[in-house]
Amino acid sequence: MALDIVGAGLGRTGTLSLKYALELLGFDKTYHMLEVGNYADHRDMWSAARRGEAVDWDTMFADFRASVDWPACDFWRELSEHYPESKVLLSVRDPERWYASIRNTIHLSTAAGLNAEDDAERERAEWANWFIWETNFDDRMDDKDHVIGVYEARTEQVKAAIPSDRLLVYETGSGWDPLCEFLDVPVPDDPYPHVNTTEEFRERFGRRQRARD
Ligand code: A3P
Repeated sequence: MALDIVGAGLGRTGTLSLKYALELLGFDKTYHMLEVGNYADHRDMWSAARRGEAVDWDTMFADFRASVDWPACDFWRELSEHYPESKVLLSVRDPERWYASIRNTIHLSTAAGLNAEDDAERERAEWANWFIWETNFDDRMDDKDHVIGVYEARTEQVKAAIPSDRLLVYETGSGWDPLCEFLDVPVPDDPYPHVNTTEEFRERFGRRQRARD
């Protein structure tokens, strides 16, 4: 299968809702960080990609028609070139709210994982720390201006590289209409998903922490 949609939006821009939305629209399956652990070799393949080594994208995405979220979003350029017929979906939201969301959820969970006693959990956190926080943000997550600067520069890079008829800058929260119009598919009856909120994330995270104590 070839990717029809390459997601360029960063984590915490509504990517899990997008995964469910795209799958409902027939782009099944849609890749997301949640899928990485379902494939024994994917984490190593992403690490190789990060080191600049060649990766067989067609093997990686054999089961997929779309990708969103980290790790794939960091390779929007490579993937959009490898799949020249694909459309590029850049999910964006207010940068201040995005930064607060990142800090209160996935960055917090990586930071906690770095001190985990469980080897597998610690290794996953070390990988995420390298792959996401160090590589994208120089591990300067306390520095809001820096992090938002990276976010905004990246939005501009995607807009500059991808022709406008191939790109949807999708404002998180704008529902089905812009997405369905861009993908040329009918609007479904189901409500557009809204999942993985900070509240939900913190509840899951708290439960894991309590189970550990
Ligand atoms: P908050 O943390 O501000 O609640 P991701 O799935 O990429 O991790 O992103 C989750 C963030 O996107 C959460 O933000 C969530 O509330 C927001 N989000 C997801 N679906 C949404 C929707 N349909 N409308 C508005 N925000 C949405």
